[in-house]
Amino acid sequence: MASIEFADARLDLAPQETVLECLEQAGHQIPFSCRTGVCLTCMMRARKGAPPEGSQTGLRPGQVEQGYFLPCVCQPEEDLEIESPGEADVFGRVVALEKTQLSATVCRLRLRTSVPLFYHAGQFINLRRRDGLMRAYSLASVPSLDDSLELHVKRLGGGKMSNWIHDELEVGEALDIQGPNGDCYYVRGTPERPLLLIGNGSGLAPLYGLARDALADGHTGPVHLYHGSRTAKGLYYGEELRALAGQWENFIYVPCLSGEADEARAAIAARAGRAEDVALADHGELAGWGVYLCGYPPMVKTAKKRAFLAGAELQNILTDPYEMQDLRKLPRD
Ligand SMILES: Cc1cc2nc3c(=O)[nH]c(=O)nc-3n(C[C@H](O)[C@H](O)[C@H](O)COP(=O)(O)OP(=O)(O)OC[C@H]3O[C@@H](n4cnc5c(N)ncnc54)[C@H](O)[C@@H]3O)c2cc1C
Ligand code: FES
Repeated sequence: MASIEFADARLDLAPQETVLECLEQAGHQIPFSCRTGVCLTCMMRARKGAPPEGSQTGLRPGQVEQGYFLPCVCQPEEDLEIESPGEADVFGRVVALEKTQLSATVCRLRLRTSVPLFYHAGQFINLRRRDGLMRAYSLASVPSLDDSLELHVKRLGGGKMSNWIHDELEVGEALDIQGPNGDCYYVRGTPERPLLLIGNGSGLAPLYGLARDALADGHTGPVHLYHGSRTAKGLYYGEELRALAGQWENFIYVPCLSGEADEARAAIAARAGRAEDVALADHGELAGWGVYLCGYPPMVKTAKKRAFLAGAELQNILTDPYEMQDLRKLPRD
C-alpha cells in the first residue's frame, strides 16, 4: 500500500482511500468543494513521486510538470511526498468592485485583478475567502470587452460561500483567486459552425461570456442560447440577452421554464420545459455543431449523452458541471 509524507509525517493509505481522505483522517484541513476532481480547490503538489495521471486531469501542462495533482481523486500507486500549493504559484489577489442582485437568488460579483488575468470567457476561477474557504465560479466576462472579472453566484440553502458572498462580502474587500481553469470556452477557427449553448440557473454565467466572445470574434454561424429554470425567479439577464439578439442576427436567445403556468411563461415569452429538452427537440441533428452545457451536473451529464446521440462529436461537446457536495442531510457548523 502506498504512503504519503505531509507536514513531516508519513501516513499509510487504506485500500481505496484517496489522499484527501487520508489527510482528513489524520486531522488536516485541506480545502475542498466537489470531491470529484472538477473544481480544483483541493490542488496540492507532489515534491517527490509521480501522482497518477487521472489525478492531474484538468490541470494546465505547467502545473502537471510541477507535480500538482488533485488529492480528492488521487489513489497513488507509489509513495508521495506532498505539500500544499505555493501561494505565489497558485493565487492572485482580486478586489470586489461591485455586487448587484440579478434575480431573487443570483447576484453578480465584479472583481478587479491586481495583475491582468489571461483567461477565456467561460473558464472558471476558484475564489478563496480569508479563512481559506474556496469555491469555483465561472467567468461571465470577456477579456476583450470587460475591464473586470464577472461572476454570477447563486445562493444555496445552507451554502457557506454563496450566502457569505450574498450577505457579507463588501465592495472593496480583497479575495484570492486561483485559475483560470477549464476548457469550456469558445474555440476559434470555425466561425461558421452552429453553436448550441444550454445552461440552467447560474449556468448562464459561462454561456453569457462565451456567446459574447464568439459574436465579438466574428462568429457567423448561428449561436442558440437556451437558459432554463423551474420558475421565472431563476431566470435573469433576459433584457441583456434580448439586446444581444437585437444586435446580432445570428444570436438566438430561448428562455425556458419547466415549472410555471402558461401565464407566467407568456409574460416573458419563455418556452415550456427544461432547457435541454426544448433545445434538443428544436435541434435533433447536431453533426458538425459545437455544444456547450453548463450548470446542474445531472443535466450536463444527460444532455452530453443526448447531444452525442444526436450526432455531435465528443470533442465538440464542452461542459462546465457545477459539481458540489450535497451536504443537505449533514449538520453544518
Ligand atoms: C467548475 C465549477 C464552476 C462553478 N461555477 C459556478 C457559478 O458560476 N455560479 C455558481 O453559483 N456556482 C458555481 N459553482 C458551484 C460553486 O462552486 C459552489 O459549489 C456553490 O456556490 C455552493 O457553495 P457554498 O459554499 O455556498 O455551498 P456549500 O457550503 O458547499 O454547500 C452546498 C449547499 O448546497 C446544497 N446543495 C447541494 N446540491 C444542491 C442542489 N442541487 N440544489 C440545492 N442545494 C444543493 C448542499 O446541501 C449545501 O447546503 C461551480 C462549481 C464548479 C465545480
Ligand atoms: S477537485 Fe478536489 S475537491 Fe474539487
